[in-house]
Amino acid sequence: MILYFSGTGNSLYAAKKLLDEDERLISIADLIKDNEYDIKLNDNEKLGIIFPVYFYTLPSIVSEFFEKVNIKNADYVYSVITCGGGTAGASAVLKKILDKKGIKLSYFKELLMPDNSMLFYQIKVGDIVKERISQADEKLKAIKEDIDQKKTTLIGDSTISSALFEPMYRLNSKTKKFYAEDTCIGCGLCAKNCPQQVIEIKEGRPVWKKETCCKCSSCINRCPAKAIQYTKKTRKRNRYVNPYV
Ligand SMILES: Cc1cc2nc3c(=O)[nH]c(=O)nc-3n(C[C@H](O)[C@H](O)[C@H](O)COP(=O)(O)O)c2cc1C
Repeated sequence: MILYFSGTGNSLYAAKKLLDEDERLISIADLIKDNEYDIKLNDNEKLGIIFPVYFYTLPSIVSEFFEKVNIKNADYVYSVITCGGGTAGASAVLKKILDKKGIKLSYFKELLMPDNSMLFYQIKVGDIVKERISQADEKLKAIKEDIDQKKTTLIGDSTISSALFEPMYRLNSKTKKFYAEDTCIGCGLCAKNCPQQVIEIKEGRPVWKKETCCKCSSCINRCPAKAIQYTKKTRKRNRYVNPYV
């Protein structure tokens, strides 16, 4: 079984590449929506946990899920965290949460993918996206071989780098800077795609009805009219969605 979270498709792309033919691929956001926190694995079934890094730690939606979840029969648990630069202590944070549940994280790899964090700075698009994904494909092949053989890696315990960025993440989790410009076509895709049901369409326009969100950036990156902004600064910034999923 693979449990995944993905805002703009990179982590879903990785999950699909690592999935065995008859294996279950389950969205963490869907499980939360359905209030489903009981995970039962079959004998010898691997558990993969795949998601992006945010502020060198876990997306809040992912940490909140794993703090609540009950996992039965976990034998071999591995994680792949996708990133635009590096994951720092994120694997240690996940390891710590799982440890508390008596679940051992046996294997971890970070996976460099195109950066989607256009809320904060200009991101690169074009050839670099395809280059990065083809480099990731090579790494995913090696990871697949490792996990098929249930290999283990050493996973550090230091969560210091993640803790340092935690206040910045909390500060940036507010939704009040999101707005839609007049170019909004009222298609409702932002609301439909939001993994936390934060957006509601009112009089043909998105409204961010919760004060905070995990900041997956799906709404802004996936808007077909490029009408969603996060302060005026994002008007001139590129958007990113994984082109293959
Ligand atoms: C709010 C936010 C914070 C991010 N923080 C980091 C980070 O700390 N380090 C990093 O390398 N990439 C960071 N990224 C980039 C994403 O982790 C990366 O692009 C990831 O592959 C996106 O995965 P997804 O397409 O499955 O959502 C951040 C992206 C967002 C939206």
